[in-house]
Amino acid sequence: MWRRVIFIRCCFWTLTETGAPCGLQMECVPQGLCKTSAWNQNAISWPSPCQRSESCCHSSQKLVIGAPLNCGKSNPNGLGGTVEEVVDQAKPNEFPWTVALMQNLINFFGAGTLVTENIVITAAHLMLDKTINDFGIIGGAWDLKQLAGKTIQWRTATRIVSHPDFNKMTGANNIALIVLETSFVMKPPIGPICWPTSGVSFDRERCLVAGWGRPDFLAKNYSYKQKKIDLPIVSRSDCESLLRRTAFVQSFQLDPTILCAGGERGRDACIGDGGSPLMCPIPGHPAIYELVGIVNSGFSCGLENVPALYTNISHMRPWIEKQLNDELNKPYKTFPIYNISYD
Ligand SMILES: *[C@@H]1O[C@H](CO)[C@@H](O)[C@H](O)[C@H]1NC(C)=O
Ligand SMILES: *[C@@H]1O[C@H](CO)[C@@H](O)[C@H](O)[C@H]1NC(C)=O
Ligand SMILES: *[C@@H]1O[C@H](CO)[C@@H](O)[C@H](O)[C@H]1NC(C)=O
Repeated sequence: MWRRVIFIRCCFWTLTETGAPCGLQMECVPQGLCKTSAWNQNAISWPSPCQRSESCCHSSQKLVIGAPLNCGKSNPNGLGGTVEEVVDQAKPNEFPWTVALMQNLINFFGAGTLVTENIVITAAHLMLDKTINDFGIIGGAWDLKQLAGKTIQWRTATRIVSHPDFNKMTGANNIALIVLETSFVMKPPIGPICWPTSGVSFDRERCLVAGWGRPDFLAKNYSYKQKKIDLPIVSRSDCESLLRRTAFVQSFQLDPTILCAGGERGRDACIGDGGSPLMCPIPGHPAIYELVGIVNSGFSCGLENVPALYTNISHMRPWIEKQLNDELNKPYKTFPIYNISYD
């Protein structure tokens, strides 16, 4: 529950002071969240029992903030007709924000996540040897063998912003932003994921990775149809002790920009999943997702008690926002817009 409150607070309203009663079935709510206020501050001379920025509101008139309106909406049944349910496979266009990165138009080399109509977040390691002319970005894809359908939108990059402190050895700061030359048309099956709730650790929650990486370490090819793997977020301390045990030095420490997930046999991100989203459902909205991590690196794939490493989006958010504010083309839209509806 506390998570949800923080989630709402991060955006446009501060709800800390709300909820104080101001009469029978009346309570103080932030101005704008009441359909008809009982106390019109301009017309009534005595002071309102609420704070300046609030209205005293009858509970029937109160507005509730709904789920994010324009981000993170998955298509749990897929789009474009029924397909058979396959274990660990996403439905067609189930996740409208996953994009495939293709070199020379044909060679898949990783994935990314659409966070606004013209910004894709991916892993810095995928961009190491790339210039903007080396690859294309494909939205609306599901089966990489079918990239000519009407759901598909191809884009090119106009700029790549890799984190200057990316460290290939430790995986620290493994994040890059790709600015698209032309925005995606944000209509089904393409849409952005929600931003992460700041300050929230999803410790022990089950979340998803979607991408086109190899099904397992020994597989020769990528998965043509998009994978969907559900796995738990592993706490920092558990992850450090597991990875120390997995053959590494006793002093092994996770970089603060990294979080861990997985560690269950056969359920893991793998080669080719780099840059793909680790996403978690927003509390109370099981089909709406926020971006929590970027597939970063791992030790083999799918080994029990060996979690994989993800770049922690929540941790990187100040950097991301700085790039968006300082450097990239404006206007941009970073925050999801929340729907407000009557109770
Ligand atoms: C892997 O891809 C190659 C080239 O497309 C293909 O010839 C081969 O059959 C694939 N292997 C498997 C196991 O799917
Ligand atoms: C991700 O980073 C945020 C912000 O630094 C932190 O609060 C959170 O605990 C981290 N998540 C994990 C699973 O380590
Ligand atoms: C907001 O949500 C309500 C109920 O969930 C819905 O009826 C309304 O159409 C939504 N508003 C917008 C702008 O989509």
